[in-house]
Amino acid sequence: MKENITPSSRRAFLGKFTKIGALTLLPPTAVSALPTEEVPEKNHVVVGPYLQNISPDEATIMWITHKNSFSWVEYGDRNNLNKKFFSYQNGLIQANNRVNKITLNGIKSGQAHRYRIVSTEILEVKGSQYKFGEPLVSEIYSFNTPAVEDEEFKMVVINDHHERPQTIPQLLYRFGYTGNERDFDMVVFNGDVFDNSDSEEQLIEQFLKPCVDVFAKQVPFLFVQGNHEVRGAFSRHLPEYLGFTNNQYYHSFTRGPVRVLVLDSGEDKTDDNWEYGGLVAFDQYRETQRKWLEKEIESPEFKAAAFRVLLIHISPWHSGDWHGTLHCREVFGPLLNKANIDIQLSGHTHRFTTHEPDQDHNFPIMIGGGPQEGQRTLIKFLATGQKLQVDMYKDDGEIVGTYTINRK
Ligand SMILES: [Fe+2]
Repeated sequence: MKENITPSSRRAFLGKFTKIGALTLLPPTAVSALPTEEVPEKNHVVVGPYLQNISPDEATIMWITHKNSFSWVEYGDRNNLNKKFFSYQNGLIQANNRVNKITLNGIKSGQAHRYRIVSTEILEVKGSQYKFGEPLVSEIYSFNTPAVEDEEFKMVVINDHHERPQTIPQLLYRFGYTGNERDFDMVVFNGDVFDNSDSEEQLIEQFLKPCVDVFAKQVPFLFVQGNHEVRGAFSRHLPEYLGFTNNQYYHSFTRGPVRVLVLDSGEDKTDDNWEYGGLVAFDQYRETQRKWLEKEIESPEFKAAAFRVLLIHISPWHSGDWHGTLHCREVFGPLLNKANIDIQLSGHTHRFTTHEPDQDHNFPIMIGGGPQEGQRTLIKFLATGQKLQVDMYKDDGEIVGTYTINRK
């Protein structure tokens, strides 16, 4: 089931962000003089639900509550929500927590599913006795699972928006629709959503909320780690708020005719750079990914796919000559060149461009633009059984890169 966004709801949403934009222009004294928003004491859903990682028979639903709660998903594939899903670990149902990651597994492929989220505050725990508050029950939302042999897959890719949350609705509403019909099955954030990962509040306000407001209750997003997300006090907590096929930032999955391969390019400088304070091991991490990649490109799923797309924040080629780029080239390059990649999508340079296959890489590379207005891009990726169509739109609507790739 696809949800229609009316032009007026899009306008209202964009208006909201214009106001936020105006507020940030006030001098620091004026901002501090504004009354601070009161944090309501009552339990509520701080953000969500948002979808992650949808496959033909699985979907992960996430949300965050204000207070520690016991949470579950009520689910149905017809009219009744007759099934409950929880998450559990080591025999214990997850409870007394705020960040919920609940996977609906064993659901049917190729159809619509309905769900709502429920959270009951846990007021007190004494031994094994729990005292519960009033349950919070959401509206009913829906999402689609792909068919196993889906003929088509559509995704849109945003990169390097660097703490400008208004970019999410602006690019999606401008280019993600055909009429009022949403024109994507998944949204990819190809790195550098943030300058630094500082806090949960930042993650919610700058990233999760805009996604939930525009699409994420019905359509999943995929986060690809950039070299800026790895910086800051909160960077080590980010994975708790996201869902992946193998719980790693590097992974792969099949959607319709496409095998999507995601690699984590890591930091751009050497591990011993003063900026990282001796707390990073990206060389080792890229070596671990190399071993995984070696197996992945020999897997039946990878080989059987009609098309193979690589998502990686820093391109191993055409991205300067700092250590991150060069090490990615050294460890991933030879494997990628024998993997029959159809196209690579990257970011990082803040300059939109395309690169034809050459003696260094035997597949085309499309690099999205930067965070400033006039430099921002949205890449629309459409795969059918026979053809890939990849178009890069600048924020004013000009198409600044295009590939049509026929099945080999
Ligand atoms: Fe970057």
